[in-house]
Amino acid sequence: MKLFEGKTVLVTGSTRGIGNAVALAFAREGAKVVLTGTSAVKAAEAAQAVSSATGAEVLGIELKVDSAADCSSAVEKTLKAFGSVDILVNNAGITRDNLLIRMKEEDYDAVLNTNLKGAFLMAKAVARPMMKQRSGRIINITSVVGQTGQAGQANYSASKAGLIGLTKSLARELAPRGILVNAVAPGFVRTAMTDALSEDVKKEISGMIPLGGPCEPEAIADAVIFLSGPGSSYITGQVLAVNGGMYM
Ligand SMILES: NC(=O)c1ccc[n+]([C@@H]2O[C@H](COP(=O)([O-])OP(=O)(O)OC[C@H]3O[C@@H](n4cnc5c(N)ncnc54)[C@H](O)[C@@H]3O)[C@@H](O)[C@H]2O)c1
Repeated sequence: MKLFEGKTVLVTGSTRGIGNAVALAFAREGAKVVLTGTSAVKAAEAAQAVSSATGAEVLGIELKVDSAADCSSAVEKTLKAFGSVDILVNNAGITRDNLLIRMKEEDYDAVLNTNLKGAFLMAKAVARPMMKQRSGRIINITSVVGQTGQAGQANYSASKAGLIGLTKSLARELAPRGILVNAVAPGFVRTAMTDALSEDVKKEISGMIPLGGPCEPEAIADAVIFLSGPGSSYITGQVLAVNGGMYM
């Protein structure tokens, strides 16, 4: 029997990058997978690709996590299609980097609304069904810069540090209902988000990593799978760093 047979997982922002690798990993392990994208077409295409590769039952949903209405509707659609929502992976995230004095208020708000408020809204939307089930897992994708801070990323670092606080508070609040809440903190992962960095910056970051350079999105998916499975049933409120030793 596969690890997640009979379980439903919803992964936000899963049309590419880390979210897509996470969705694929769950599908390979027998889960029913809900993939979400900011466009309905991209979400449907990504879901179809995961289904073709694995044979898993999938659903593609358009979801903007900064919209409360979208979040509750995504969970309703999941429940309608698959009957339960067992695992939520809050992966959707954006950057709008700039130095403090040049950072526009709207760029601060956009990053906080997507990365932090989005995770709050999604957690709120799944809380009731998970509480009824008396079981569930919520995994928040934070970042090494939420732990260390980063010049030029005041908005992003604040959102990711906020996610760690959210993780710990929800872990305490939901533990009596059998819901475990943890975070994964990636370091430097090869995705579209980091492709946007200059070669110089990529080199500089790689130089700070004892294991030598970026990882692939699958390395993050492995950690999410662990924190969602039976092997982590006594772990809650933790931040699992997957960063090649970049921050210890
Ligand atoms: N790549 C890295 O090195 C790295 C390091 C640490 C943390 N992370 C985090 O991992 C997560 C995934 O990042 P990635 O590197 O795969 O980047 P990515 O840009 O490839 O993927 C981000 C996903 O989020 C989606 N998204 C953006 N705004 C959204 C919104 N308002 N509502 C719903 N979805 C939205 C995008 O459509 C995309 O699918 C992010 O939370 C990111 O902050 C990435």
